[in-house]
Amino acid sequence: MAAPLLLFCGHCLDHNNYRACKLIMEIEQQESSNSVKEKRVSGMYLVWEDLSVVVPNFRNGHTKRLLNGLCGFAEPNRIMAIMGPSGSGKSTLLDALAGRLSRNVLMSGNVLLNGKKRRLDYGVVAYVTQEDTLLGTLTVRETICYSANLRLPSRMSKEEVNEMVEGTIMEMGLQDCADRLIGNWHLRGISGGEKKRLGIALEILTRPCLLFLDEPTTGLDSASAYFVAQTLRNMAHDGKTVISSIHQPSSEVFALFDDLFLLSGGQTIYFGAAEKAVEFFRKAGFPCPSRRNPSDHFLRCINSDFDAITATIMASQKLHEPKTSTESLMSLSTAAIKAILIEKYRCSEHATMARARIKEIANIEGQEFERKGKSEAKWWKQLTTLTRRSFVNMSRDVGYYWIRIAIYVALSLCVGTIFFDIGSSYRAIYARGACGAFISGFMTFMSIGGFPSFIEEMKVFYKERLNGYYGVGAYILSNFLSSFPFVAVMSIATGTITYYMVRFRPEFSHLLYICLDLTGCIAVVESSMMIIASLVPNFLMGLIIGAGYIGVMMVTAGYFRLIPDLPKVFWRYPISYVNYAAWGLQGAFKNDMIGIEFDPLVPGEPKLKGEMILTTMLGIRVDYSKWWDLTAVMVILILLRVIFFLVLKFKERVVAVIYSIYAKQTLQRIKKRPSLRKAPSFPSKRHQTLHPLSTQEGLHSPID
Ligand SMILES: Nc1ncnc2c1ncn2[C@@H]1O[C@H](COP(=O)(O)OP(=O)(O)OP(=O)(O)O)[C@@H](O)[C@H]1O
Ligand SMILES: [Mg+2]
Repeated sequence: MAAPLLLFCGHCLDHNNYRACKLIMEIEQQESSNSVKEKRVSGMYLVWEDLSVVVPNFRNGHTKRLLNGLCGFAEPNRIMAIMGPSGSGKSTLLDALAGRLSRNVLMSGNVLLNGKKRRLDYGVVAYVTQEDTLLGTLTVRETICYSANLRLPSRMSKEEVNEMVEGTIMEMGLQDCADRLIGNWHLRGISGGEKKRLGIALEILTRPCLLFLDEPTTGLDSASAYFVAQTLRNMAHDGKTVISSIHQPSSEVFALFDDLFLLSGGQTIYFGAAEKAVEFFRKAGFPCPSRRNPSDHFLRCINSDFDAITATIMASQKLHEPKTSTESLMSLSTAAIKAILIEKYRCSEHATMARARIKEIANIEGQEFERKGKSEAKWWKQLTTLTRRSFVNMSRDVGYYWIRIAIYVALSLCVGTIFFDIGSSYRAIYARGACGAFISGFMTFMSIGGFPSFIEEMKVFYKERLNGYYGVGAYILSNFLSSFPFVAVMSIATGTITYYMVRFRPEFSHLLYICLDLTGCIAVVESSMMIIASLVPNFLMGLIIGAGYIGVMMVTAGYFRLIPDLPKVFWRYPISYVNYAAWGLQGAFKNDMIGIEFDPLVPGEPKLKGEMILTTMLGIRVDYSKWWDLTAVMVILILLRVIFFLVLKFKERVVAVIYSIYAKQTLQRIKKRPSLRKAPSFPSKRHQTLHPLSTQEGLHSPID
């Protein structure tokens, strides 16, 4: 069966080469008449040449190829569908084009935007990801509104912005759920399909010139899917370039796409005009049955994931059952069909045309897009919008601060009753020390409870940052400003309850100090948690690392082991100096003890001065004021925020540079490995029998 097909393929090569040459000549004629090369064109022309993505394996295992030498292009005024079975590399291709591949994979080949090689992340292109990353506490309208204020030009009036927001809500059919919350772990919000449409609405809001979408219609009913695809098509035909991966489109949705990139196992099955794909399959010997959706037919032909199970079922059916009409349907060898299609495409007119057009587009000089892609809102507007949005999110998310505030109040009442009216007896010295250490140690430790919410916020930040909504500085400052009122409430509640119940000192200035001290310490823990959340975006790992970090800070704070007794190397210098808890506790002890006198151990002896207790029993220096301790806490807070800023920036820029150097070197190393050598386009004929799909299914197409 295989031999005639191979012969057919050889014949097809000659015939196609002839047609392809003719087509190239036609294109060249057009070229000279239009002189496209010399003209500066508007819109985004994207070209990818010999694009490969691999997961390197430095041991003896195979280097896995996710994409295998793909070539293609996308033009303005056209919408392209990337289709293929699950795991075929659709998201990987989109990520590679948009410069968002994960760090463990390596990419080779060229991606040119308007004839230039450049990074496409951080706002140059818009990307709707497969997962919805949204703040669940906001309504649909609020989400779009905040997004509009963050990105639309500051010169636009409020009415104009609202008009755009309402227009986008209508376009995505979200008017019925516009005032409903998106939903999170404790709020049942809008449906998955509505979330998907909201994700698209956020990206089309600013009418980006180049838009990537990863399965925008998955989870939508057929009518919604049609309207979404229609909106995207309208956008594309308005001069934009739209590339979208798509899963199981209906024939109506499929008909809306201008171009099709069909992938299987990271290889090109077909690239060209969507309407010509059916003809390509027919010519390749796999015609689409008349009543079958073309996209279903394509996937049926190229999904080889179930070949093994199909073979097993076939074998058992042969043993136990008489022949049925469905047997032939089950006997598909899609791996073989796939191989034939890959080969047919390689020698087809479509591939030749694509190569010619790629060559042409690669020389096109396009419009300047540097500024257009990024947010056009002013920094100040971004800061105020982000602060407002973050504050609304924090105040609506029960788990962010409210539960913690309730626990802080409850724990403060517990501490207040346990250490009630502590007094100034000899035994009160130890009790005051323990109480102070508990408040500034454990109470700040509880800030770790906000970690899950930090992680959620960081996810939204990463998504928006990659799409270029705002800068790192605006985000960090807004996060601090919006969280500050909640941190202050926690500190004031804890400070006031414990201070009045324990009756530390009667003066207001002492209460003020302890509230400021607690605010500083809690803000430091929050900042540390944000840094950890930016480094380990995993909830459980983050909690463990955060708990370990605060544990170390507590044990070196000066209560469990006095600071002068700490081992000098490492623990005293530098750890106790960079430890917010050490400064916080020293300040709290000074605030409590300086100026009061305690009863002596033996009645009749002179009273014990607070200063003396501090120096002899607690190992605290009293030659500088408690306000210096507070200043040290604030300096650590500022430093941590700067570190947070640097971590986010470092991750964006420096890591990208290091990664590209590493990628180049690694690619050179692994290119020599046999596992990276191109797989034979035809599978071994010893193990596979090649059957045209139509004959196996008994579904001879009327087109044939
Ligand atoms: N960073 C990575 N490291 C290792 N393997 C990866 C990585 N990214 C993707 N892959 C693998 O590459 C293959 C293609 O993945 P991809 O997500 O691109 O598929 P897809 O076509 O988008 O599938 P789906 O339709 O299910 O979304 C999968 O087998 C996946 O496991
Ligand atoms: Mg995917």
